[in-house]
Amino acid sequence: TQILQKEIKPNLFKQTGKITRGDRERLNNNRSFTLWLTGLSGSGKSTLATETEAWLHGQNARVYILDGDNTRLGINKDLSFSDEDRAENIRRVAEMCRLFNDAGIIVIASFISPFEQDRAIAEKLIGDESFVEVYIDASIDTCQKRDTKGLYKLALAGKIKNFTGISSPYETPANPDVHLNTESQTVGACLDVLKKYLITNKNIG
Ligand code: PPS
Repeated sequence: TQILQKEIKPNLFKQTGKITRGDRERLNNNRSFTLWLTGLSGSGKSTLATETEAWLHGQNARVYILDGDNTRLGINKDLSFSDEDRAENIRRVAEMCRLFNDAGIIVIASFISPFEQDRAIAEKLIGDESFVEVYIDASIDTCQKRDTKGLYKLALAGKIKNFTGISSPYETPANPDVHLNTESQTVGACLDVLKKYLITNKNIG
């Protein structure tokens, strides 16, 4: 109620318009939701995000990628890789996902998001029914060998601190909606699994 809201946040009143999320979804001809890709650096999040976006776009769905490198160069440029700043990074990103979803747009969120608690907060903000957790699984050994950005080499040499998997933890998702192993499966095979999930559960295709 307004009274309760006033107690928590004085002088703020949630505004609503005439057009609902459902109206926007109908206009866009797709349901909106967030595919939350979590995994180590180099696990294949960006590759799968890009491929999935291209496929969804080809299905005439409104879709947009939010990813760690890009948002940390812009809206989150004040944040470091401390545990606290990672939590704030994920909170802000989840708020953005919530707004995009409310605008009727599908979001592919590609963030290491190493902490279970932060992913749970993201799920709560976005809403359980709109949040699809996709675990992009590759072992730390494989990610180190790939070292696509050369960051593991720097982290192992002590030149980057708090690096996930080296000097900062990654908590494996206990019960993801989709589990993709990029070590044992090709990109194409992983994409097929995700497509099937979206066709079955989100009326795509
Ligand atoms: S997090 O943990 O969710 O807040 O991280 P995220 O916003 O996804 O940003 C990860 C990208 O930042 C680069 N980078 C680092 N990653 C992990 N640890 C440290 N210390 C670090 N420093 C820079 C790196 O390019 C990550 O991108 P990906 O795509 O995961 O490789």
